[in-house]
Parts: sequence; C-alpha cells; structure tokens
Amino acid sequence: MNPYQASERIEKICRLAPVVPVLVVQNPDIAKPLAEALISGGLPVLEVTLRTKSALQVISEMAKVPGAVVGAGTITKSNDIKDAINAGASFAISPGVTDTILEESERHKLAIMPGAATPSEIMRLFQLGYSVQKFFPAEANGGRAALKAIAGPLPNVKFCPTGGINRGNAEGYLELENTLCVGGSWVATQKLIEHRDWHTVNDLANKASKLGSKI
Ligand code: 3PG
Repeated sequence: MNPYQASERIEKICRLAPVVPVLVVQNPDIAKPLAEALISGGLPVLEVTLRTKSALQVISEMAKVPGAVVGAGTITKSNDIKDAINAGASFAISPGVTDTILEESERHKLAIMPGAATPSEIMRLFQLGYSVQKFFPAEANGGRAALKAIAGPLPNVKFCPTGGINRGNAEGYLELENTLCVGGSWVATQKLIEHRDWHTVNDLANKASKLGSKI
C-alpha cells in the first residue's frame, strides 16, 4: 500500500465518526465491554495506544467486536507496525514519524496516519503522499487557530488533531475545512475505565458522535 492509498483509507476511517477515542487500557478483560460501550454510543473507530503491556492483546479483543475499526496508536518504532498487524489492527497512528516507520507501514500494507506538528513536517509528509495527518499535540501546538492558519498555504492536507481536545473545544476544530475528525481521551478516561463505568462512556460517546462532522 503506497502513501496515497494509505491516505485514502485513513480518510475513509476518519469520516466514520467525528471523534476517535484514544484508549490507554491496562486490562485486556475490559477490552470487549469498553469497545461495545463506545461503538454502541456511535464511535466505531478506536485508537488503542501501545503504551501498556497488554495493548496488543486489547487490540485483538477489540478487533473481534462487531463494528469495531481498531487502530494501533502511539506507534514510535518500526517494529510496532508488524506487532499491530499481528494483533489485528486495521490502521496505525503515530505521534510523529521516522523513515523506518513509514517504510514498514508501506511494506506491510498497514495504513498509517502519521503525526506532524509543524509546516515543514506537514509538507514533507504531504510530499511523500500522506495527505491525512495527525496534528499533534494539537492544543499545545496552537490548537484550532494553528490548524486554521495552516489551511491557508496547505489546503490539501487534512488532519485529525489530537492532544488536549475535549467536549468543550472539539466542535471548534470540527468546523474547520481541514479537520476530518478529532482524537481524544475524554470519552474513556482512565478513571472511567478503572471504574468500569460503561454507562458514562456510552453516554459520552453518544454526545461525541453528534459533534459537527463532515459525514
Ligand atoms: C494521546 O496520544 O495521548 C492523545 O493525544 C490524547 O490526548 P488527550 O488525552 O489530551 O485527549
């Protein structure tokens, strides 16, 4: 899968829902009920961060849940790509990129949404063919105003901003022409996951799924 095909696939995934929950899950036993709460709330696209020992197992469990579109997040080294595929991830997200991460995702045909934070990084990725990028860390990096400004000289790059986004500021991003969806942990926080509060997760997902999208 070349970068153009990967971007096409990522764009389709981003258009499935306005919000991609960013999940940090320690316990694989709760993967299924967590995914079910999010999906039935209207958020089928799930980013499972490779930040816990059981993240790959969590991906495997979530990928079995009907309707789930599960991606591996926090891809920081090239080996992560193969691990993510073996676990059943259907896409990958990275906070930034290295050449080897891009090479591995292309070689193993795993669609990647690479992360970028500055115009030079965005331009480099776009030149390679990656037209859909994660804008990270969104709020710390200038937030909505930065993305709006970037759309001037770089109108053909689309983003999933992530980092510091919540129910209060998500809508502002989703109004932008260059924002396909946003990522965030607010729909399934550590506390909600620890308390196995699937009712609240479902409610937050439901509210998030109604935020202004371009579906
Ligand atoms: C992350 O990778 O941690 C994401 O950027 C999520 O950020 P958030 O917790 O601020 O939503």
